[in-house]
Amino acid sequence: MMDTKIIRMDEENIDRKAIELAGNIIKSGGLVAFPTETVYGLGGDALNSSSSKKIYAAKGRPSDNPLIIHIVEMSALSAIVNKIPKAAYYLAEKYWPGPLTMIFEKADCVPLETTGGLDTVAVRMPSNQIAREFIREAGGYIAAPSANRSGRPSPTLAKYVIEDLSGKIDMILDGGQADIGLESTIIDLTGSSPVILRPGYITEEMLRQVIGEVEADQTILEEHSKKAPKAPGMKYKHYAPRGNLIIVEGEAGQVSAYINDKLSAFHKEGKRTGVIATDETATGYVADSVKSAGKRGQEEQAAKCLFRILREFDDEGIEIIYAEGFEQKGVGQAVMNRLLKAAGRQVVRLSGENSPI
Ligand code: TXA
Ligand code: MG
Repeated sequence: MMDTKIIRMDEENIDRKAIELAGNIIKSGGLVAFPTETVYGLGGDALNSSSSKKIYAAKGRPSDNPLIIHIVEMSALSAIVNKIPKAAYYLAEKYWPGPLTMIFEKADCVPLETTGGLDTVAVRMPSNQIAREFIREAGGYIAAPSANRSGRPSPTLAKYVIEDLSGKIDMILDGGQADIGLESTIIDLTGSSPVILRPGYITEEMLRQVIGEVEADQTILEEHSKKAPKAPGMKYKHYAPRGNLIIVEGEAGQVSAYINDKLSAFHKEGKRTGVIATDETATGYVADSVKSAGKRGQEEQAAKCLFRILREFDDEGIEIIYAEGFEQKGVGQAVMNRLLKAAGRQVVRLSGENSPI
């Protein structure tokens, strides 16, 4: 176990001394967790293969699952990729800095340890000011996966980074709650047409507005796709709470009635139960723990609190969790993508007769 230094600061009031220390840790091959606008990242020097190996070890992550390189300037992009397609310039112009990751052909200076053995590299320019000052101070190229132990929900608060990684990394920069709460949208620009590998806050529609037609990787959409996902990380078990999570979709009144029925049956068996509800429905449930993911139709709120809710159910020892489905529009698509993964794709769809179909 090592001694993990934890320093709290605000985006508007950056602790320069702490940033300098963090930069020096990275330059000497150490690891620092830091806040971004999406989720917390676990940073190491992207151009140092031994730093990338340390990241995999600290997370307990399979080393064929590539890391995203975080930069702060466009000039850094040219240094780590072989060519920059036109679409990347347009997307960067509109959405960088911000929650968008683009995949390119990698340049030789990027070690295969960072890209999980691939000849492509994922790059993102975050907007969070603490992240930006840290990356600059550390030399400009930070490899960072989400700062959770492999398989757990991505951390949206420093306390979850502490829970998962304290004693395993050198430093944690605590910048409060992550604004967005879900990981960045990933778009692959290495093929003949752009493909979304992971949905996020930057929606399909927002991408299409800038570069025209974009495809979504079939493995994101299909429930039982036999194809291997193009983002290697998407094949691993993700976010799963310890309790059994089931999503229920249908007309609001039916969904609540169905869930309450199930809850009371499990309660009789002595199980601890939980519900992921909305502001409109939360008071109607009888369970050990009912959590609202915000107002129905405001999927940004659900994005912000979903990972925290999943972790809280674990802390409360909840064994059975029912979740209302969210509409797959806008950022709702990313919310449902993460929720479906967390549920191991267990979904009940109610028909008009109030029975599963
Ligand atoms: O918002 C985010 O993207 C956060 C913050 C910290 O920036 N990072 C993050 O990293 O979510 P991670 O490692 O948890 O997820 C990265 C995903 C994985 O599914 C990985 O397989 C995929 O990106 N990926 C990385 N490089 C890739 C590549 N060259 N080709 C295809 N997929 C890649
Ligand atoms: Mg992750």
